[in-house]
Amino acid sequence: MRIAVVHGPNLNLLGTREPEVYGTATLRDVSREIAALAEALEVEIVEFQSNSEGKILDFLAEVRDTAAGVVINPAGLGHTSVALLDGLLGISRPFVEVHLSNPASREAFRRHSMIAPAAVGTVAGFGVDSYLSGLRCLHNHLLRQRHE
Ligand code: DQA
Repeated sequence: MRIAVVHGPNLNLLGTREPEVYGTATLRDVSREIAALAEALEVEIVEFQSNSEGKILDFLAEVRDTAAGVVINPAGLGHTSVALLDGLLGISRPFVEVHLSNPASREAFRRHSMIAPAAVGTVAGFGVDSYLSGLRCLHNHLLRQRHE
C-alpha cells in the first residue's frame, strides 16, 4: 500500500520556525519518524513539501493513481484554500488532516479548516505524533475499506 504525505507552506522551516509553537524537530526528523513507522506498517510513503500551492496540487494529481490515501499538513493553506479542498476532492482518495500545533487553541482564524469537512479525520496538537497517528489511522481505515 502506498500513502502520500504532504507538508504545506513553511514546514520546510521546522526546527527553527517558532520552536515554542512547533517544537525543535526538523522536517527531516519528521520524515525519519514517518519512514520508521511506514516500515513497521509495511506502507510505502511518497512524501512532498512545497511552499507553492500549485506544486502541491500538481503533486496530488500525480499520485492520484498510485496512492491509496493522503496524510496532509496543509499548514496555512488549510485555513484559506478552496483550491486545495478541490484538489483533494478531485483525486477521490481518503485523507487525514494533521497539524503539529493545535490550531483550535490559537488565533481565531486558525479555527477554520477548508479541508476538514472532506477529511476522514483530523489529528492536531501532538507534534510529530500527529503525523504518526494520522498515518496509523489512515492505514487502518484503508485496510478496513479493502475488506468491506
Ligand atoms: C500548522 C498550523 C497552521 O495554522 C499553520 O498555518 C501552519 C502549521 C501546524 O502544523 O500546526 O503552518 O498546520
